[in-house]
Amino acid sequence: MVIKRGRFSNRLGFVAAAAGSAVGLGNIWKFPYETGENGGAAFLLIYLICTIAIGFPVMISEIALGRKAQTDAYGAYNKLGNRKWGLIGAFGILCGIMILSFYNVVAGWAFGYFVQIVFGDLLSVGLDDYSAHFGAYVADFWDNLIFSFAFMILTGLIVVRGIKDGIETASKFFMPLLFLILIGLIIYAMTLNNAMEGIKFYLLPDFSAINIKTVYSALGQAFFSLSLGMGALITYGSYIKKKENIVKSAAVVTLADVSVAFLAGLLIFPLVFSQGQQPTEGPGLVFVALPKIFHEMGPFMGKFVGGSFFLLLCFAALTSTISLLEVPVAYLVDEKKLPRKRVVFGLALFIFIIGLPSMLSQGAVPFFTNFMFYEGGNKTFLDVISDMFSEVGLPLGGFMLTVFIGFKWKTKNLSLEISKGNPGYEGSFLEKFVNIVITTVCPLLLGLIFVVTVLQKFLNVQIFG
Ligand code: TRP
Repeated sequence: MVIKRGRFSNRLGFVAAAAGSAVGLGNIWKFPYETGENGGAAFLLIYLICTIAIGFPVMISEIALGRKAQTDAYGAYNKLGNRKWGLIGAFGILCGIMILSFYNVVAGWAFGYFVQIVFGDLLSVGLDDYSAHFGAYVADFWDNLIFSFAFMILTGLIVVRGIKDGIETASKFFMPLLFLILIGLIIYAMTLNNAMEGIKFYLLPDFSAINIKTVYSALGQAFFSLSLGMGALITYGSYIKKKENIVKSAAVVTLADVSVAFLAGLLIFPLVFSQGQQPTEGPGLVFVALPKIFHEMGPFMGKFVGGSFFLLLCFAALTSTISLLEVPVAYLVDEKKLPRKRVVFGLALFIFIIGLPSMLSQGAVPFFTNFMFYEGGNKTFLDVISDMFSEVGLPLGGFMLTVFIGFKWKTKNLSLEISKGNPGYEGSFLEKFVNIVITTVCPLLLGLIFVVTVLQKFLNVQIFG
């Protein structure tokens, strides 16, 4: 029996969904705290270089691979390569499952903060107590359980509706709103005392802050933020038509993603500096800095603006969780021919359960909270999963993708696929650039960084000081 696969309705639909996948907690929650921890502007610069020089060509390749194969991430490598190459796809699917397991926990915090602002008393917490409040909130068992469970169910409800009605519609609606509220908040933040200090930290690079950790953190962040390295875009690419222009779509998605991350930094750092906070606060950064200004706006405005902000953050996260869930769903539907509905809810529940240790690792259960010790500090279970499957796993997935294209599928087939819907591609400067990045830069650089990261991060072997 041939099951008809879903499709995006047109280019805008695909772009909205792929941008929805890219823009998420990675931009608004992770990017600012990573930038804060890694020296500010210097990190921003390297992140931008990684995005343009590596992320963009890898994105084009993932989409092309998916569209050529017309199937899920595992199936794509399997079809254009063989079963052994299929393992790359399988590794990607595993990364996706593990990333979703902790991503959904953080999404639950955003959801909980939304509810606390609008219906609770988050805005009456003492101005100096937001850090402690966040610490207590993430350590609370029941709130986290309820909100992250609810978030996973919401994700499932959209994914089950399929490509066009679920994923595409949700993204088209929420993405533009997010842009608007970010810009409004930035204008407000600029008026605060000391805002310029934040801008300086964010935009004037201090090159002495750059070391190998800056580089692999920025690279990991670029992959995470663009949703690369695990087959999410192979999967989405399999739902588009041949006549569509992959290069243009990827450019819009990359631009949207970078803009939102950039704007998030432009909002957060003036706030952090005007509040006399440290930019190195870590994962709590936005959850501490933002509620404070909402508090200062007064009860009515605070509820309105703060409520809208966290609501949009939830939607941004939701269009990302749906893409993370779609990857293993597509695998089981395409390869095992299982019914979509059963697969969606079965997987959602399974991933929610795998996420429980991450959820409990924020203070609720000491064993998971002090799970490992490396990089000179205690790592929570959530950190460990994020380090393994996102910071290391995604660039590794990208490395294997480029090896696959260079040695097995070949760049001439890549070019052939990209030029469908983009007749000028073959022979263009962009083609040469993409091919060099994919066959040379990526395999060498990503391979090297993988080795260095594993040695330095997990085995504590210092190579570059
Ligand atoms: N890019 C999303 C964010 O920035 C997270 C995400 C969604 C993701 N799908 C992905 C990351 C696939 C890696 C791979 O929040």
